[in-house]
Amino acid sequence: MATGIPNASAKTANSDFQITYANKATVSEILAGDRSRTFDYLPKTSEGRLYYGDNLPLLRTLLDDREVCGKVDLVYIDPPFATGCDFESRNQTHAYSDNLMGASYIEFIRKRLVVLRELLSERGSIYLHLDWRMICTAKLLLDEILGERNFRSLITRKKSNPKNYTRNSFGNIADYILFYSKGDDYIWNRQNLPLTEEHLKEYRYLDNKGRQHMRVPIHAPGVRNGETGKEWRGMLPPPGKHWQYKPSRLDELDAGGHIHWSANGNPRKKVYLDEHEGVSVQDIWVEFKDAHNQNVKITGYPTEKNPELLERIIRASSDEGSLVLDCFAGSGTTLDTAGKLGRQWIGMDCGFEAISTICRRIAHGSEKMGNFKSSELPNAIQENLPFAEKRRSFGLSVDLALYQSTRESLERPEEADVSEFARLFRLLEVNNQSKRSLKTCG
Ligand SMILES: C[S@@+](CC[C@H](N)C(=O)[O-])C[C@H]1O[C@@H](n2cnc3c(N)ncnc32)[C@H](O)[C@@H]1O
Repeated sequence: MATGIPNASAKTANSDFQITYANKATVSEILAGDRSRTFDYLPKTSEGRLYYGDNLPLLRTLLDDREVCGKVDLVYIDPPFATGCDFESRNQTHAYSDNLMGASYIEFIRKRLVVLRELLSERGSIYLHLDWRMICTAKLLLDEILGERNFRSLITRKKSNPKNYTRNSFGNIADYILFYSKGDDYIWNRQNLPLTEEHLKEYRYLDNKGRQHMRVPIHAPGVRNGETGKEWRGMLPPPGKHWQYKPSRLDELDAGGHIHWSANGNPRKKVYLDEHEGVSVQDIWVEFKDAHNQNVKITGYPTEKNPELLERIIRASSDEGSLVLDCFAGSGTTLDTAGKLGRQWIGMDCGFEAISTICRRIAHGSEKMGNFKSSELPNAIQENLPFAEKRRSFGLSVDLALYQSTRESLERPEEADVSEFARLFRLLEVNNQSKRSLKTCG
């Protein structure tokens, strides 16, 4: 493997090119657009807030919320992927349609990313999960919105086992997650994996105290004119290289017995096995496949992601007490995992099936795929939402426009298929009558 030598003169200005298409709104137009009028159905609590409605006006509403704007440490979103498909949950209820394509799709995602950037804390990060269809375009968008210099990783996730499709191409078993920070000083909790057998074999030396270690070079590629390019113990770094440490630090390491000198006088640093924190996680993740056997717990919502995948992201890029936001919440994988890890959360979804799945998940957890039973109405509704409140408390806010259109549609049921809204409406009405008053806050 060749390691390139950084060339300072090759650095270009941040994002000096842009993606262009018709009807691309300016950032100020996006930020000034319509806010949502929301009302609280369940009171907001310390753990989480769930919003039912289109996320763009809802996100803009949060720009005016001093508890949220500039305070979100982590955004993870898994939006529609521009597949051109409709998705049903396991009980065959329509969940959502993924039918935006081309420039309309790009502008849809871009508008949300522009507002999300404003909601981030100075130490915040965004993770955007997509597949092969839009990931390259999304990289350009994020370079534009957050700055190329804030790109941190492009994670490749193995989403399934190999498939034996007989098409003339390589099988697709990966999707991708782009990770950007808002700035240089972002939350980063290094995630480690235990050393593998292969790694352990590299620790083949014992020192005079019996400590197992390996020996690594103390130089790195690139010529330096400062201290790390100078002589140490009568030796210059090899041609085209520099010392990894200043000579004063190399003296300290040597005095502490941490440098091994070979028979021909070649210095190498000892890296001790007992000081090793594990191998840091790299950018190919193979362990978080979508539900693939009968023992995996699921909610039955289509395209739900693996909770362990979210656990890794949340642990790496947020701290306990951090505010985590997912505005394409689906079955609530991000929200549930964030809550379990002691983070606060904000979730949004415009689908009734998603909102009711989240309520059910928070109240009852998920079920093993093999035990999954479909029920006509989600448990949270059958038992009324306050049940969920007893188990894990969160607040539910509903877009007032959505609520009103529900009410109007119900008055004119012949005009549309209002079954989903009717269920929500009844749920709200039932609970409203049972002591709760609706508070308008928009
Ligand atoms: C791929 S799914 C998310 C799955 C989720 N990560 C999980 O683990 O369950 C995308 C979600 O985005 C929601 N969605 C699509 N457009 C939206 C919009 N404009 N506002 C809010 N939610 C939206 C859909 O209803 C759907 O639940």
